[in-house]
Amino acid sequence: MNYKLSYYQEKLDSETLKNEFIFYLKEKLFFNDKDIYLNKDRELSVEEQNLIQDFIEKKKEGTPLDYILNSSKFYKNDFYVDSRVLIPRPETEMLVDYINNNFSSSLKVLDAGTGCGCIGISIALKNPNFDVYGSDYSTDSLDVAAINKKTLDPKNFSLIHANWLSCFEKNSFDLIVSNPPYISDQDPHLSNLMHEPNKALVASDDGLGDIKLIVDQSTKVLKNDGILILEHGYDQQNEVTDIFKSNHFSNISTLKDFQSHPRITLGIFKS
Ligand SMILES: C[S@@+](CC[C@H](N)C(=O)[O-])C[C@H]1O[C@@H](n2cnc3c(N)ncnc32)[C@H](O)[C@@H]1O
Repeated sequence: MNYKLSYYQEKLDSETLKNEFIFYLKEKLFFNDKDIYLNKDRELSVEEQNLIQDFIEKKKEGTPLDYILNSSKFYKNDFYVDSRVLIPRPETEMLVDYINNNFSSSLKVLDAGTGCGCIGISIALKNPNFDVYGSDYSTDSLDVAAINKKTLDPKNFSLIHANWLSCFEKNSFDLIVSNPPYISDQDPHLSNLMHEPNKALVASDDGLGDIKLIVDQSTKVLKNDGILILEHGYDQQNEVTDIFKSNHFSNISTLKDFQSHPRITLGIFKS
């Protein structure tokens, strides 16, 4: 039986789902506005119906659209993503933007917990004079990041398997950036994030466990006057600032996101 597009459109019960469906039709089936709005009563091919059915099934399970499309837009590039990695968030683009707008001399940079590689690769592409490394302890993440390294082809980006900063030598980096897991395992929002890897989201110690480790370990691997920049939860500014202070960071400041939530803290390390 060959159904029409209108048959499927009528089944979608929310505006969000309808918008995602249109995006999916354009990205995956290469439909244009005419196909979607004017020719919606044309009979679909079996292949088109299978792809649409796949979308509907996955949305029923709550799968995020980026995983269905295996693609996530970040800092104007398309990154391959699947359920092995966190889907890049718009707030994290702010962190990349800050680095791209505030540093120009040649720097050795580490993106710790690189996931799909979105932070490190975006910095490397914009700053060909930087030497950028992306590390993760998850080999699944590193496999995904390797796909993006191959496709987006930054010449100055390398991947390293590492448990935070434990394997790096003293005075290795000018700049360490990280969007670590920072959600408490008691956080009620976790139930909305069940399709993403738990290990990319949840940290011990009320969400601060990994941040504490990174700040502490960074004092061993940052050069004198090196900078640490961390993304964190909107309600963690005071705790994160205290962690920076107690590890001898100076000039500590926090950047706010588009909704004026404090989300990125940075400081200079004085050895
Ligand atoms: C919140 S995700 C961030 C991913 C990516 N940087 C982004 O911004 O979309 C945190 C990342 O940290 C990694 N991670 C968790 N624990 C780690 C550890 N002990 N050492 C290194 N990476 C770790 C996870 O595998 C995950 O890729």
